[in-house]
Amino acid sequence: MPLEKMNEFFNTRADTYDHHMLVDLALDVFYEEIANCVQPDKPIFKLLDVGCGTGIELKRLYEKHPNMSVTGIDLSPEMLRQLREKYPDKKIELICGSYFDAPFENDFDVVLSTYSLHHWNETEKLKIYKKCFDSLIDNGIFINGDYTCKTAEQEQNYQSELVRLRQEENLTDNEFYHYDIPLTAETETKLLYAAGFVTVELVKAWGNTSILIARK
Ligand SMILES: C[S@@+](CC[C@H](N)C(=O)[O-])C[C@H]1O[C@@H](n2cnc3c(N)ncnc32)[C@H](O)[C@@H]1O
Repeated sequence: MPLEKMNEFFNTRADTYDHHMLVDLALDVFYEEIANCVQPDKPIFKLLDVGCGTGIELKRLYEKHPNMSVTGIDLSPEMLRQLREKYPDKKIELICGSYFDAPFENDFDVVLSTYSLHHWNETEKLKIYKKCFDSLIDNGIFINGDYTCKTAEQEQNYQSELVRLRQEENLTDNEFYHYDIPLTAETETKLLYAAGFVTVELVKAWGNTSILIARK
């Protein structure tokens, strides 16, 4: 199977995406945990959702914090269309574009990312983590719930395989392709500290999923 461009991969799956995540993969418990991680000290706070997709992660958050203000960034217009349909009466600012390129504002209380950042190597991830750090107010938190692997060897294998596939298909560097290259929670922690975060905590890990909270 050739690699698919990232936005096309998610555009073509947007209609069935929620069913896949919530029914096939039974990830309800993950999104419940994510909602528990967001404990702001004020009723109206600003949240940036990096790679928001269809916004599954926002459902429980809106139940708990109906007045939060949300900015979402995603590459796929079809995933964003699903998100808009899901929350018709919420005022959400949506940016359709790459989180590598889109400027982030710098006054968010919470930056959240769920299942989006496992497509990037350490160099790419550090860039995003620095952007997340810069976009937070002092003492703000970054929550990253994502696909992780267990060992450095697995990390290396995923990345070598991606390099091999890209070479085999003669793909240019300036286009995003969908391929999972999860890092270990230890590497994630190292990168978050390197981005400037003051504390980093692995709050939950089960199977191939980890939730890390980093505080500015
Ligand atoms: C697996 S989905 C996760 C969506 C949602 N956060 C969730 O938990 O269901 C990954 C999302 O990341 C988005 N994405 C991937 N690379 C991106 C990039 N460079 N910039 C913005 N969004 C990106 C995809 O379009 C997709 O909607």
